[in-house]
Amino acid sequence: MALASCLLQGPPSEWALVKRHESEDCFGIQVCGSNAESMVKCAQVLEENTDADFIDINMGCPIDLIYKQGGGSALMRRHSCLEHMVRGMTKILTKPLTLKMRTAIYHDTQVAHKIITKAKLWDISMITLHGRSKEQRYLKIADWDYINECAMVADPMPLFGNGDVLSFEDYSYHRQHSKVAGIMIGRGALIKPWIFKEIKEQRHWDISSSERFDMLKNYVNYGLEHWGSDTEGIEKTRRFLLEWLSFLHRYIPVGLLEQTQKINQRPLAYYGRNDLETMMASRSVSDWIKISERLLGPTPSDFVFLPKHKANSY
Ligand SMILES: Cc1cc2nc3c(=O)[nH]c(=O)nc-3n(C[C@H](O)[C@H](O)[C@H](O)COP(=O)(O)O)c2cc1C
Repeated sequence: MALASCLLQGPPSEWALVKRHESEDCFGIQVCGSNAESMVKCAQVLEENTDADFIDINMGCPIDLIYKQGGGSALMRRHSCLEHMVRGMTKILTKPLTLKMRTAIYHDTQVAHKIITKAKLWDISMITLHGRSKEQRYLKIADWDYINECAMVADPMPLFGNGDVLSFEDYSYHRQHSKVAGIMIGRGALIKPWIFKEIKEQRHWDISSSERFDMLKNYVNYGLEHWGSDTEGIEKTRRFLLEWLSFLHRYIPVGLLEQTQKINQRPLAYYGRNDLETMMASRSVSDWIKISERLLGPTPSDFVFLPKHKANSY
């Protein structure tokens, strides 16, 4: 996701977000903005300067700063602005325009189905619906009954459901019990990046701690390649690694479980099958920092880290 206003100002850090990596076989750019005119301008510059398969409008971001400016989930109550935005953007874009939204702003006044009915009259190619309201953040489980209702309202426009999928069983269940055209996975992809392999192969993978550590090595190499291997590049890579570790530690090795892990179940502290597995399951920031030190060397003496995303907690 990139902010339309920042993309229009042009700093390289924002433009880095919309750059496709050669390993990405499907790549979409999500834009967040509150003003129809600047979103249309942004569509124009993205059309001319990027290589994306689709452009997506962020209509779900709950962050106060963005919401107060009328962007993210606030667009769910600004229907006429949204219509101008969508109609203006589709006029310019040669690739599909999609929408990502929540069920509502407040959980007791669901509005997604009303917006979907309108969006069917515009040229939207697909909608992703996160089954929680802005107010709920991650507090409740996603409302898949409502997602299903919305999928039926959306038909024949494809609607992807989103919320709480952490296993191939969760995925298959929702595919079988709802009319969604597909499923989007958020935290599951951060906690268990191999979830897509499990879905394709319809089986659990009892991945070892050293295989997981190899994924971290790859990640760190990508970071150093992108930001450089000088002190600044190392510390930037470390911050991103630590953010990721704040999700990764929630994975419980499948070989230690009798039942499939659910995203909202907080396990009791446990020992892994070796020291590395135990360390990777730690909820303590100091252990995440130790893992980062194995990959990136010692932290500077004044180093502190607080995870940015509250979504990493239960
Ligand atoms: C770290 C993090 C960053 C996210 N950033 C975005 C974003 O930029 N745009 C967006 O539409 N949703 C974003 N989301 C929300 C997810 O796309 C998804 O809707 C939400 O996590 C619910 O799905 P889940 O239960 O599978 O995690 C983010 C979620 C997380 C955990």
